Amino acid sequence: MDQLPQEPVESAELDSMMLTIKSFLEHLEYSLGKDKYSASRYDIYNALAYAVRDRMVERWLDTQQAYYNSDQKRVYYISMEFLMGRTLENSLINLGLYDEFKEAMTLLGYNFETIVDDEQDAGLGNGGLGRLAACFLDSMATMSIPAYGYGIRYEYGIFRQKIIDGAQVERPDNWLRYRNPWEMDRQEHLHPVKFYGRVITTTNREGRTEHNWVDTEEVMAMAYDTPIPGFRNTTVNTMRLWSAKSSREFDLKFFNEGNYIRAVEKKMLSENISKVLYPADNVIEGKELRFKQEYFLASATVHDVIYRFKKMHTDLNLLPEKVAIQLNDTHPALAIPELMRVLIDLEGLEWEAAWKITTHTFAYTNHTILPEALEKWPIWFFEQILPRHLLIIYEINNRFLEEVRQKFPGDNGKLERMSLIEESWERKVRMAHLCIVGSHSVNGVAALHSEILKTDLFRDFFAMYPERFNNKTNGITQRRWLKKSNPLLSDLISEKLGEAWITELFELQQLVPLAEDHEFVARWQEVKKANKACLASYIARHNCIKVDVDSLFDCQVKRIHEYKRQLLNVLHIITLYNRIKEDPDIDMVPRTFIFSGKAAPSYFMAKLIINLINCVGNIVNNDLDVRDRLKVVFLANYGVSLAEKIFPASDLSEQISTAGTEASGTGNMKFALNGSLTIGTLDGANIEMMEEIGRENMFIFGLTTPEVHALRTRGYNPREFYQRNPALKKVIDMISGGAFSPGNPDQFKQIADNLLNQGDYYMLLADYDSYIACQDKVSELYRDKKAWARMSIINTARMGKFSSDRTIAEYAEEIWDVKTLAVEATEQHCLHEGACLDHKGHTP
Ligand code: IMP
Repeated sequence: MDQLPQEPVESAELDSMMLTIKSFLEHLEYSLGKDKYSASRYDIYNALAYAVRDRMVERWLDTQQAYYNSDQKRVYYISMEFLMGRTLENSLINLGLYDEFKEAMTLLGYNFETIVDDEQDAGLGNGGLGRLAACFLDSMATMSIPAYGYGIRYEYGIFRQKIIDGAQVERPDNWLRYRNPWEMDRQEHLHPVKFYGRVITTTNREGRTEHNWVDTEEVMAMAYDTPIPGFRNTTVNTMRLWSAKSSREFDLKFFNEGNYIRAVEKKMLSENISKVLYPADNVIEGKELRFKQEYFLASATVHDVIYRFKKMHTDLNLLPEKVAIQLNDTHPALAIPELMRVLIDLEGLEWEAAWKITTHTFAYTNHTILPEALEKWPIWFFEQILPRHLLIIYEINNRFLEEVRQKFPGDNGKLERMSLIEESWERKVRMAHLCIVGSHSVNGVAALHSEILKTDLFRDFFAMYPERFNNKTNGITQRRWLKKSNPLLSDLISEKLGEAWITELFELQQLVPLAEDHEFVARWQEVKKANKACLASYIARHNCIKVDVDSLFDCQVKRIHEYKRQLLNVLHIITLYNRIKEDPDIDMVPRTFIFSGKAAPSYFMAKLIINLINCVGNIVNNDLDVRDRLKVVFLANYGVSLAEKIFPASDLSEQISTAGTEASGTGNMKFALNGSLTIGTLDGANIEMMEEIGRENMFIFGLTTPEVHALRTRGYNPREFYQRNPALKKVIDMISGGAFSPGNPDQFKQIADNLLNQGDYYMLLADYDSYIACQDKVSELYRDKKAWARMSIINTARMGKFSSDRTIAEYAEEIWDVKTLAVEATEQHCLHEGACLDHKGHTP
């Protein structure tokens, strides 16, 4: 640990390096109380993380002060999920300190890669929605937008997935066990969040009706802040996550009852609110605890926004000029009635003024049209848990329906369809309707999806408020999904184009002519092969399967869901397997099929599909006739860090959802950015990718959205497709007959039954033919390695549009109306007057 640098280094660099080493050693000793004898691998990681965090703090404070001093409009991105993954390397890259820290750790005798690998993923999300929030934070900081991410600090993130005997088994994700060095707890930022109780309505002396929400139970929301550094600028934004703590009043009330153990139990129950992330993607679980989590986030955030606003302003009518709140799906929708409650009940505003402020402040992003994912909360939840909010929602609805009546007189169907209340056997609040009515902007996340919102799901609302509807096609941050995750390709690109692409992704267009440059093409191929070798070694270590690095790496990594059609991919694998069995000497392009993804723990069919993938793998991988031409691999515990290993190593990206079901997808973009070719349907953002990349550079197949509708309307009969196509019939018969589950022949009967007898809702059989034909074209092209590499380069080159920087620029201009604010780094950092530190933390 006490070695000195061997090679001569510039003195400024040496200074900085020595500072880094000192900072690391001091944190190990003073923050963690360890020395080289007692430090565990997590201590080493934590000390390093603290040293990195230190380098952000000054910019963080400068940024926050600049926001106050400039009094510019701020953006609040509220999301129940932030799927951040790891932070260490990303921070080092953004701060421009990567090489310095790596070298410092090497000098101390540590293996930097091993330390980096000891970081736990922050998995506070399920999939696309949560990762989008994380990409947006990176883009907003990089673009110097005054912005905050607000969410929940779940003690347990998305479960860890194990595969045991081919089946998914869930284990808790205790991600905070070895501490989280990136967060700072803010004991002073506590907001009481009320639940239960009743509302007393009175009329005051001026004749104004007043509502008093009384006899409530309170839970405190405590803030934990994480710095979000921009890429090589001076901006460091904040992600603030709320953690539930029992309130003192709560403690006193229950402890005074005299039953100590019961009081402690009650205390624990109240703190359960932020205990665990609900592990369901694109489906709601109508659980009371989830409802409470949503209100907990909404309420604490609204109070924080108002608190910050009031530090500088007294006139709440100015709120929309200073604050934009983006709702990431309907999950934080309770912020709308909560802001109304604050403005009316606590601040004394009239309804009309409060409503104007609220609707001009909020904007809503819809992420799905799947009916099972549209949130509706039973009225009785509101009656019991949020009685005041129910009154507010009723009042919003009354006024809104009156507006509908005036605009469309006599159209009772419309009133029923548009009401915020669903009048079913169990009355419910339709949260999407609340969001549309309570916001000034409603956006979908890809062009097709936004069209479907206007013409189908929300068509009545579009007729009412056409100006509210807009599209913001999703994007991904190239800082994480190329620069960090694929250093070999990044270096090659930067060597040719410079580094401008890191903040201006359209720069990648300059790669197009290089697709004709033999030397460049060869180097592109080498990089891909090296990345494949890396993944192959991961597969060997984790799955004990040896895969051929020259085989086509065919990847489908995403949540396991029927609409995403992992099963269609399996039908193709079995088709290829049958071709080999029928002709063992068939000339076939070797493929490695890589699957990864979690299923919601209660989603039976998705879990059965995981099982099937593993069982097919077992048979195919071990069949001597196959002679290693096909390998099927299921990588357990998909998450951000695993994704970062897979995208760079992929040849083919499977984006094969039924047309009209995937809102956008962002995995599709991450693959293409890393030079993977796409086989996909005309769904979600695939369509816009095709517009950029060119149809000739992708493998497009299957029914279009209108064709899916037309077939459904005509009456889709999957059996016709089954009877007509012997190869397909054979595949399905094998699944239902136990060919892949010899010990339990009926194990997968239900899968075949769903396809043949339950209507095959996602139309796998209708798309099978065109999928197989398209896959055959993929194999043909793969035989021509140069042509494949050329196409791969074109894919990467044309991904400019899909940077989340572009998406955020559109939100900023068209929805939020916020400006960027370049933060000036102060050389002298004043804590208090007369006590200044220089930028290295020394008193001058
Ligand atoms: P918050 O907005 O209360 O979360 O404060 C975050 C950071 O903003 C603080 O740590 C300060 O750096 C900065 N800040 C807070 N209040 C002021 C102010 O009145 N003027 C300038 N900066 C402030």
